[in-house]
Amino acid sequence: MSALFTPFTLKDVTLRNRIAVPPMCQYSAVDGVSNEWHRVHYNALARGGAGLVIVEATAVSPEGRITPGCLGIWNDEQAEKLAQIAREIKASGAVPGIQIAHAGRKASANKPWEGDDHIAQGDARGWETLAPSAVAFGANLPQVPHEMTLDDIARVRQDFADAARRAREAGFEWLELHFAHGYLAQSFFSVHSNQRQDGYGGSAEGRGRFLLETLAAAREQWPENLPFTARFGVIEFDGRDEETLSESIALTKQFRAGGLDLLSVSIGFSTPEANIPWAPAFLAPIAARVREEAQIPVATAWGIDSPPIASQTIEKGELDLVMVGKAHLANPHWPYQAALALKQDQPSWVLPAPYAHWLNRYRVSE
Ligand SMILES: Cc1cc2nc3c(=O)[nH]c(=O)nc-3n(C[C@H](O)[C@H](O)[C@H](O)COP(=O)(O)O)c2cc1C
Repeated sequence: MSALFTPFTLKDVTLRNRIAVPPMCQYSAVDGVSNEWHRVHYNALARGGAGLVIVEATAVSPEGRITPGCLGIWNDEQAEKLAQIAREIKASGAVPGIQIAHAGRKASANKPWEGDDHIAQGDARGWETLAPSAVAFGANLPQVPHEMTLDDIARVRQDFADAARRAREAGFEWLELHFAHGYLAQSFFSVHSNQRQDGYGGSAEGRGRFLLETLAAAREQWPENLPFTARFGVIEFDGRDEETLSESIALTKQFRAGGLDLLSVSIGFSTPEANIPWAPAFLAPIAARVREEAQIPVATAWGIDSPPIASQTIEKGELDLVMVGKAHLANPHWPYQAALALKQDQPSWVLPAPYAHWLNRYRVSE
């Protein structure tokens, strides 16, 4: 059997295979509340066969949304609707995960298909953004954020803790803290966005402090027996990569000591000047280094949509899980197609019985 189709156990949770759907914003919520679109979308993904389905970046506070269409988990109505999605994902045999997030200086943006840029100043749909320092991202996101006070920092930390508690109460079994992609937590860590002179800036230790404190606050609200994970941009591709990577690995060791169970290794996206060497599975060797040096299970995404390549990353011990994003939007049954492509003897268990009974007769490998 391909390693891709072996189960994966983390804490008290076992995934039916090594395929995860990473968080992917749908930009389709109103006031942060999920609706029919989200239900159908997540149900389809869970039925498709992935072991883990992680619900998109879900904001811990209104100003933490990327766009006005992003999901939120700062109130009970939002959590109640998400609970239904968690139950449904689970009913289809996948583990329900959720990413909790704050978009920082990249918030208050138009949806990708409506410009992907900051909402214009003076437009009532927008809001003031928050960041460690009053430094804009630039390019399509020129708004200068409000530099967070110590009270702001304490409030957002508490928002993450409350969101973790709501996620648990809603029935999610896998928590992912969004510490990547230039959003708030990543912007504390990155030298591109953090110019603070106080204890939350300067050295790698200072820049890592917001992340460690947020992790600790969420940890207290999340059960010990369920996977507690983070997505973190360990590299920027900005020319100072070795330095960033070694700082990131040192911080990951502290995450692990603070109770993190798995790191989803990603990119910083802290500067529009980055020069990213896009290629199939190009982050897998970097994730493998984090796995080895920080001694923590890892996952990664970005261009791992070829079944043989996905399988090899697991077989070689580079990754514990593969995250397959856009290919799942094209085909929620990507795991089934991968089982066929890899000529698995018994792909039936990646499909629910009402589909498997019929489709197994037509396996292309025969
Ligand atoms: C529509 C869309 C929405 C996304 N939203 C999120 C998100 O909410 N959180 C996140 O960490 N990454 C997000 N990403 C990044 C994906 O999780 C993933 O890393 C990316 O698509 C690369 O994987 P792929 O090459 O398999 O598509 C998003 C990507 C897409 C295409």
